Amino acid sequence: MKSSGEGNANGKIILMGEHSVVYGKPAIAFPFQPTHVTAEITDHIYDVLRSGYFVGPLAKAPKSLENIKTLIHQLRHDFSTPPVQITISSTIPAERGMGSSAAVAVAITRAFFDWQNLPLSHELLLTYVNYAEKISHGNPSGIDAAATAGDEPILFQKGAAFETFPINISGFLIVADTGVKGKTRQTVKAVAQRFEQDNKTTGHLINELGDLTLKAKKAILNNQAAYLGELMNAAQKNLAALQVSDQTLDNLIMVANQNGALGAKLTGGGKGGCMIALASDYSTAKKITTALTNQGAKATWIQELGVYQYA
Ligand code: PMV
Repeated sequence: MKSSGEGNANGKIILMGEHSVVYGKPAIAFPFQPTHVTAEITDHIYDVLRSGYFVGPLAKAPKSLENIKTLIHQLRHDFSTPPVQITISSTIPAERGMGSSAAVAVAITRAFFDWQNLPLSHELLLTYVNYAEKISHGNPSGIDAAATAGDEPILFQKGAAFETFPINISGFLIVADTGVKGKTRQTVKAVAQRFEQDNKTTGHLINELGDLTLKAKKAILNNQAAYLGELMNAAQKNLAALQVSDQTLDNLIMVANQNGALGAKLTGGGKGGCMIALASDYSTAKKITTALTNQGAKATWIQELGVYQYA
């Protein structure tokens, strides 16, 4: 055992396929490097958590941190360790569809294994993170865990080995935070209820989202940014029909499209959280972020997609 351990993870963005991924359809996600979380572990006389949301004995952490609490108890139990002090520093906005809860679980699990000086396979990492994610989200597809634990774009499909692939597209992705907490647990549940009540219409919308994701993968591989934008707009229509969008998201998506975006949609669970837009060049991306900020976006990021190029 070392005197301390450290673990890191990035936030993530789902480009296409949220919600339909819960029903076994493919989704595209990638690590979002502008947002990041670090966890540090040392031993302590009792379990203590130090984070932006809570500082104090782990036993007294609020319900919203139940995922972290349970993960730490499980890790400590599995490896019979002394109590720990965990310090979390994060720039990933919580509950905004950026995979904050999964990223924190990735960073903690990595820090724990580093502290214990034990090797951590990708598979074991995902097992612990998905365990924590079940507490946060109820019925997670596993995409957040997979995307925040890796450093390449992925095509994720529940139950299948996920594929990494090069983002071979020239363009700029804009991410904007509505400032409203996303409601992943509720939206996933609401879609499940819709599916039960009207499985024909809901099933059709979900199937189409899956098809759009596969088309998006081809558009990315063939550097067809304008087409990818159209596919994003089409996905947003289906997500709105599934009733996981809301007025704030719809408004920012409209503003992005009015300011030169090739396409725009929500990302993640929806009903708040973040939206994304695609721009062909940096000056359009800047114009879009300015317009989004003027319309009330709480934070914006621009990511050049070309940076994700793997031979
Ligand atoms: O809101 P986020 O970042 O946790 O993304 C959720 C993605 C969903 O497809 C809506 C749910 C899931 O578990 O895949």
